[in-house]
Amino acid sequence: MAYEKGLLFDKDFQESLKAKFCYADADPKTGKRIFLDNSGGSLRLKAAVEAKAAVEEYPDCPERYHERSLWLKGMVNEGTREMLEYMFNADPGEGALMTELSASQTMFQMVEIILRNVKWGKNVVVSALEHPSAFDSVQYYCEKTGREMRVAHIDPANGQITTDEIKRLVDKDTVMLSVMSASNISGIVMDMEAICKAAREINPKIYIVSDAVQHAPHMAMDVKATGIDAMNFAPYKFFGVRGCGYAYLSERVAHMSHHKLLAKDPKVFELGTPAPGNFAAMMAVIDYVAEIGAHFIKSEDKKELFREGMNRIHLQERALLVRLLEGTDEVPGLRHIPGVQLYMDVDEFEGRDLIGCYLINGIASDKLVEEYQAKGITVCERAADSLYSKRIVKEIGADKGVIRVSPMHCQGTDDVDAFLKITAEIAARYN
Ligand SMILES: Cc1ncc(COP(=O)(O)O)c(C=O)c1O
Repeated sequence: MAYEKGLLFDKDFQESLKAKFCYADADPKTGKRIFLDNSGGSLRLKAAVEAKAAVEEYPDCPERYHERSLWLKGMVNEGTREMLEYMFNADPGEGALMTELSASQTMFQMVEIILRNVKWGKNVVVSALEHPSAFDSVQYYCEKTGREMRVAHIDPANGQITTDEIKRLVDKDTVMLSVMSASNISGIVMDMEAICKAAREINPKIYIVSDAVQHAPHMAMDVKATGIDAMNFAPYKFFGVRGCGYAYLSERVAHMSHHKLLAKDPKVFELGTPAPGNFAAMMAVIDYVAEIGAHFIKSEDKKELFREGMNRIHLQERALLVRLLEGTDEVPGLRHIPGVQLYMDVDEFEGRDLIGCYLINGIASDKLVEEYQAKGITVCERAADSLYSKRIVKEIGADKGVIRVSPMHCQGTDDVDAFLKITAEIAARYN
């Protein structure tokens, strides 16, 4: 396949993108640092923060009929359309957008709606890799609706939930399958097209849910190609703002009974006054990605530009992943630093998001995070005793937890090299 080792943005372009983010190279209080915990919440696009702040200045209710109010309502409508059509690749008018305060809330809602409305079926399949919001919501509503919960495990050779595993667990009585689009700890991208196909060959009626919170900022989502019924993302991990979570719902799920004002249309999921500022922030993110697309192709079609932008982000990030793992002649990558133990490091660079997941022999992961922070590098510990990561690190064979390093597309090879040099220095001290 083309660009199996990715394709770096040229340096000027990469730096011009980084300049569009807040505090990209320094924290205003603690000073210079390289932020490599983007999977925990990405660097914030200035335009998104500013768009939200600008909209919040207006007191007008978006449900009135004067000019300012209509402007605010228009923002919600346009933001909804752009998210569904550009980000999720839904057909115009197809499906619905769910809005909540967090991605976890959308997940619990989606799972509840499906499992309470569907009257047939005796079991639900969920992957062991899921974030607790997806895993626990399945467990909770299986208990409430009297269904068996079946857990799909990864293939330890490649970190994937394979179609064989899906075929082992899904049957005619499987109401719902929930598999995340990419792991937030290993960065391994699931082959959702193949997973959905395999599940539907066994049970054409099955509902498929996918948590795209980790994956969405790295590669374009596509509900049309997969036929996924419910898929969510979190704007704060996608260059945007905190305090909201969004999800796509397929036409058949959108028509299911759910919490709403009864007089509203069946596909309305909005409950209470919407927050136009959040939609404005997400539209600023969409514009930014479309601008990246426009750097590479000529088109008047914003959706095409957005999707090309995501494609270019992915290629830039794949090239950074190669650098992170392989390094250069001058700066060895994680694969080549004595004392570094990588987890779920499959040979191929395709089918992975930009995450490295590792430990350094001789030092506990919490101490290691402190060592990095003292050197101006922010990485994250995915601990073996944390309620968020315990089940998942065990699933990938990392019983002592891991360090997760997650750069993003606007960062450069210089950021990765600086991280690698510090890693080598720490590893040399303990090994
Ligand atoms: C894969 C994945 N799903 C869901 C979530 C939950 O997102 P939120 O905390 O915004 O609800 C996270 C957050 O870390 C995540 O990484």
